[in-house]
This record gives sequence, structure tokens and C-alpha cells, in this order.
Amino acid sequence: MARRIGAGRGQLLQERLRRFQELPQRIQGSQVWTSIFRPGSIFRKGYTDSPRNRSYVIMNSVLYHLHPVKVKRHAVKVSYTLCLGGLSFFLFIILTVTGIFLMFFYRPTSAQAWNDIKTLQTSVTFGLLVRNMHRWAAHLMVLSVFLHMARVFYHGAYKPPREFNWVIGVILLTLTLLLSFTGYLLPWDQLALWAVTVGTNMMGYTPVFGQQVRFALLGGVEIGTETLLRWYVLHVLMLPFVIVIFMAIHFWRVRKDGGVSGPL
Ligand code: HEM
Repeated sequence: MARRIGAGRGQLLQERLRRFQELPQRIQGSQVWTSIFRPGSIFRKGYTDSPRNRSYVIMNSVLYHLHPVKVKRHAVKVSYTLCLGGLSFFLFIILTVTGIFLMFFYRPTSAQAWNDIKTLQTSVTFGLLVRNMHRWAAHLMVLSVFLHMARVFYHGAYKPPREFNWVIGVILLTLTLLLSFTGYLLPWDQLALWAVTVGTNMMGYTPVFGQQVRFALLGGVEIGTETLLRWYVLHVLMLPFVIVIFMAIHFWRVRKDGGVSGPL
């Protein structure tokens, strides 16, 4: 009798063990799993290492699909692009993350702006570090975008079929410089104030509509709290929004123009 109970329990345990071992396969076969991982994914049941499935891995991944399924050997060498375009994008991500942190402590009015920056540096945990990260990343982004443009020019990648992407690139460079310039005013110190005064005075000398552009950018006839609010909105909202759209077109065009240009 006792032996029979023991045998029954053994069978039950074996059954449970078998079910436990089948668990990964059952999860992989479930609707939730198959709706997330598309055919050809290495996470799908019965994946085999075939050329077709390798292509699927690239095509069906939200990140990988930005790249072509086949890439030219020279194009994946870091020494060809120096990853300067990727670096510019990486710096933009750092600027976005650190910028959001700074927004928690900064109010764009002439009465509060400078004090908020001071408090951020002296009393907020990691405040000084994050502010400096934001500033350094901004300087580095201007540099890396410029070097990326020089690299593209050196390789003649502005020629057909990439001439449209070169134009998108020029817009990206302008937006990067505008982001850098609008951010310059926000600390509301003497350096920022006079730099922006000089900059907007220069804009005023543009033929035909110079004075109008100057008026729109200053929010009046001279630099003041309206200017600060205007430049703040441009810096944290409008310019980042526009640059993201142009970056998306830029990356899409690199892909559509057949990936990175050929060897010299
Ligand atoms: C925010 C600024 C920019 C970002 C994030 C960016 C990003 C990229 C990336 C990731 C690539 C792929 C190859 C590589 O890394 O070199 C690329 C290629 C390219 N970029 Fe940019 N870029 C920017 C600005 C510019 C500028 C200022 C120009 C030129 C005026 C430009 C023109 C091009 C062209 C023509 C290609 C294709 C290059 C080739 O086929 O060799 N980009 N960009």
C-alpha cells in the first residue's frame, strides 16, 4: 500500500517535471509571445540559422531595421565614418536627458533664472554635474556635427544620390547651432546677456527683414524677460521637435540611398 502511494507520487513528480521542462516551448508558442516576436526571430520556436532568418532578424527589429540587411564591408569600419553621425545623435540623446533634469529646477523669468541656476549648482544633488554634462555635450555636439559634415565632404558623399541628404544635413547643422545659441541666454548672466545682445544686433543688419527678425527674436526692441521666455520655448520645445523630425528623415535617407557611401 505504502509502496503504491510512493509510486503515485513519483509519477506526479515526473509529470510536473515534464510540464516544467516544456514551459519555455509553451511560452514561445503562446499568442502573446508570437505577437511580440515576429517570424524569423531568434526568440521564435524552431529558429534555424539560415540566410533568410538572418535577414528577418534585421528586418523585424525596431532598432536593427534602420540598417540595411546587407552592409558593405568598408561601411562598418569605424575608421570610415569615425561614427561621427552616430556620435552627434548620441550627444543629442545626452542633451535631452540632462536637459529634462535641468527643467525641473529652472524658471525662465528674469527674476528667477539666474538664482535657479545658482541653486541648482550649490544645493541640488548632482546639479553641478548634470549642468556641466549638458554644457559640454552641447559644445561637443557642435564639434561632432561639423566634423561629420567634413567627413561626408571628404568622401564626396554630397554627390548624387545623396545630395538631398546633404541639404537635410545643412538644416541639421543650422538647427544644432540655433539650439546652442538659444541655450546660451538661459543662465541669464552678463556673458549670456551681452552675447545675445551682440547676436541679435547682427541679425538686425540682415537686408530687407532684419529688423523684423530681431524684433520677433527679442520679443520687443531690447533684450528682456520676454526674450528669455521666447528663447526658452525655442530651446526646450520647438527646436528639439524640429531637429528630431529632420534627424528621422536624415537616417531614413541614409538607408534609402543605399547605406553609407562607397569607398574612395
Ligand atoms: C544633428 C546632426 C546630424 C546627425 C545626428 C547625423 C547623423 C548621421 C548618421 C548617423 C549618418 C550615418 C553615417 C555616419 O555616421 O557618418 C549620417 C550620414 C550622412 N550625413 Fe549626417 N548627421 C548630422 C548632420 C549632418 C550634416 C551637417 C551634414 C552635411 C551638411 C550631413 C550629411 C550626411 C550625409 C550626406 C550622409 C551620408 C554619408 C555617406 O553616405 O557616406 N549630416 N548622418
